[in-house]
Amino acid sequence: MEVLDPRFRHYMLQEIHAQPRTALEAVAQYLSPENRTKSIAGIALPEEQVQKLERVSIIASGTSRHAGMVGEFMLERLARLPVKVDFASQYCYRDPLTEHNELTVLLSQSGTTADTLSALRQAKSKNARTIAICNVQDAPLAREADGVLYTHAGIEVSVAATKSFTAQLIALYALGVHLGHTRRSLSAQETRDHMNDLMALPEKIEATLACAAAVEVGAKKMKDAKSFLFLGRDISYPIALEGALKLKETSYIHAEGMPTGEMKHGPNAMVDEHLPVVMVLTRDATDPQSTLRWERSVALLEEIAERGVQVTAIVCQDDVATVAKHANSVFAVPAASTLLLPVLEIIPLQLLAYHIAVLKGMNVDSPRNLSKSVTVE
Ligand code: AGP
Repeated sequence: MEVLDPRFRHYMLQEIHAQPRTALEAVAQYLSPENRTKSIAGIALPEEQVQKLERVSIIASGTSRHAGMVGEFMLERLARLPVKVDFASQYCYRDPLTEHNELTVLLSQSGTTADTLSALRQAKSKNARTIAICNVQDAPLAREADGVLYTHAGIEVSVAATKSFTAQLIALYALGVHLGHTRRSLSAQETRDHMNDLMALPEKIEATLACAAAVEVGAKKMKDAKSFLFLGRDISYPIALEGALKLKETSYIHAEGMPTGEMKHGPNAMVDEHLPVVMVLTRDATDPQSTLRWERSVALLEEIAERGVQVTAIVCQDDVATVAKHANSVFAVPAASTLLLPVLEIIPLQLLAYHIAVLKGMNVDSPRNLSKSVTVE
């Protein structure tokens, strides 16, 4: 059993604060100092198969599926492969159409989730090439898949997945860079740049944790709300879903995540001063598309703030002053590339869910009706 350090009241908080270390561990596993581009041999996917790949399916449950949704953006942009993400609990009942040159990636912290195992068996029965991305060594999912990429996050005790989620994002990014490099969708220089970005990530996670005290203060303002809306655009949309899931499972508060751009298609009607909104409003200032998306999101922020909506925003350090004019609470993360920002964005949302749960006196590490590994379908 993992020991609870006396500096932390709960495993969830300990695991949130472990993320700089677990990220460092994962990065060290995927990048060798001599040859930074190749260290994920466990996927057992020969170069000629990588060249022939035509499509990727990612299948998972809960938090792991949210990581898979971030992975969809990573793999599409890095390896230029079409990616489809599915709930394991849906896929396992389907009669899936798998292509000959399709890679099926099963994501799971525990490697024992019944729905995900069942999906793996379904995919294998269709002759799909399978890779497990798994945290627990030698778990059934890892043993049964054709290849495995371990996430190296260490034992996770709290039912709410935190450090295993960021470790999954790192594994998916490393996989995307590997596939992109092998398929030549990334040049040698681009591959090196992505690897350097990955190496710089653990320190950025550490810097992000500096928001912890501010999040605790913000949680006090929000703890009595009956419902929350989490918004994120593009690759940050799955982070909105994950922020909402963390709050639901630890605080038992209704929360919904949705793409920021969908607000005008209906949900905007229900938003008023009684529904706090949490917006992921980061951007990679060196990426014009990212800035365009950010400007559109800031326009929405201004509009809803005028209606008295309580907005909490996750922003990059350089945008704090601009966004703070309209938001009630602003939590900052360091600058990062578009594809790696999600790893930082989720940290204040994990802390927010944690502190609201503590303030409400919840059983943070073992929420009611849930278990760490869901071994029944
Ligand atoms: C997340 O906080 C939950 N514990 C849950 O959604 C979990 O991610 C899901 O049950 C899948 O578990 P796995 O990653 O072990 O397969």
